[in-house]
Amino acid sequence: MVVPMPFLEGIMSISNRPMPFSAVDGELLRVEDLRVYFGHHKAPVRAVDGVSLAVRRGESVGLVGESGCGKTTVGRAVMKLVEIIEGRILFGGYDITSLRGGNLREYRKQAQMVFQDPYGSLNARMPVGQAIEEVLHVHKRGDRAQRRKQASELFHAVGLNPEYLGRYPHEFSGGQRQRIGIARALAVGPSLIIADEPVSALDVSVQIQILNLLRDLQRNMGLSYLFVAHDLSVVRYMCDRIMVMYLGKIVESGSSERIYSFPSHPYTEALLSSVPDVGKGLDSRKGGSKRIVLKGDMPSPTRQIPGCPFHTRCHRARDKCRVDAPRLRRVHPYQWSACHYAEELLEENRTASGTSKSDAF
Ligand SMILES: Nc1ncnc2c1ncn2[C@@H]1O[C@H](COP(=O)(O)OP(=O)(O)O)[C@@H](O)[C@H]1O
Ligand code: SF4
Ligand SMILES: [Mg+2]
Repeated sequence: MVVPMPFLEGIMSISNRPMPFSAVDGELLRVEDLRVYFGHHKAPVRAVDGVSLAVRRGESVGLVGESGCGKTTVGRAVMKLVEIIEGRILFGGYDITSLRGGNLREYRKQAQMVFQDPYGSLNARMPVGQAIEEVLHVHKRGDRAQRRKQASELFHAVGLNPEYLGRYPHEFSGGQRQRIGIARALAVGPSLIIADEPVSALDVSVQIQILNLLRDLQRNMGLSYLFVAHDLSVVRYMCDRIMVMYLGKIVESGSSERIYSFPSHPYTEALLSSVPDVGKGLDSRKGGSKRIVLKGDMPSPTRQIPGCPFHTRCHRARDKCRVDAPRLRRVHPYQWSACHYAEELLEENRTASGTSKSDAF
């Protein structure tokens, strides 16, 4: 089966490439029709239900959606931390879906995860420098003196004073701990970082500092990011492209600018109307647009919803939506949407923004 890949049509993946992971035509990560289900097979939790995405070398792709929509599970699947029911994952053109043992360890040097709460993943009783040196040791990076030097360089790279390497996790602030989490992820020299809500737990002013650090590191090291967040403004600030997720599926994807200026799915529209704009100091809602309040909570992912999965909460739902499931389809050269009425929505947003048709399309 050929899986449609938003924006990467024409870029072929060669799945029998040997290690080391060399990127094919700039594409580093490719996820095809990924399904991850939890629980009993009679009523599974469909955490990820047919997600396809791709990340190019040096690119940031944002995965955004409400809590429980499956973002973390996508990240964990890419890290090979959960069992995949269906689909494939290609890294640098190499199929890593069934990777095990030594090859899996090799792969995990290339892809690293940064978490929302670095405190949870740091050993409270170990000085942070030692924790970084231990990661280097596990991955057989240099002798003791070289590891100490590398830990010091990593601290410097993430904006921390190497004199603090002897301190314990509780002696750092939340922002500093996130810098340590980033240093630890960088220790093994990855090319892909899966950043799972890396700033969600931080104060707004600290958020910007960490986002800027991630951007600088990306520029200096040529990193690719799969950037997970529930806040569209944070994702827009960081990412070239955005994938919007709802109930385990991608409902809209496109360039950040397109999605932010001309959403083509009512769910994106609702998310956009409720987020502050990080680029403007997190103090204003996008374009002063009217707030759309989503009805109720996201349904349980064990429920199979007929028609459009979003219809129970959609402010634009019509009769057709209750019976006919929309497919993710191209609605603009840089935008895909899983809404029957995407074109109407685009036209409405274009008119409301006062943009001429030639500028918008
Ligand atoms: N290990 C697990 N066992 C059972 N259900 C899980 C597990 N991990 C996640 N889920 C469920 O899968 C869904 C998606 O979770 P998650 O990927 O964490 O979403 P997000 O990161 O978008 O908040 C949720 O309903 C969550 O409760
Ligand atoms: S298909 Fe219908 S229910 Fe689904 S997002 Fe579009 S308008 Fe809403
Ligand atoms: Mg999560």
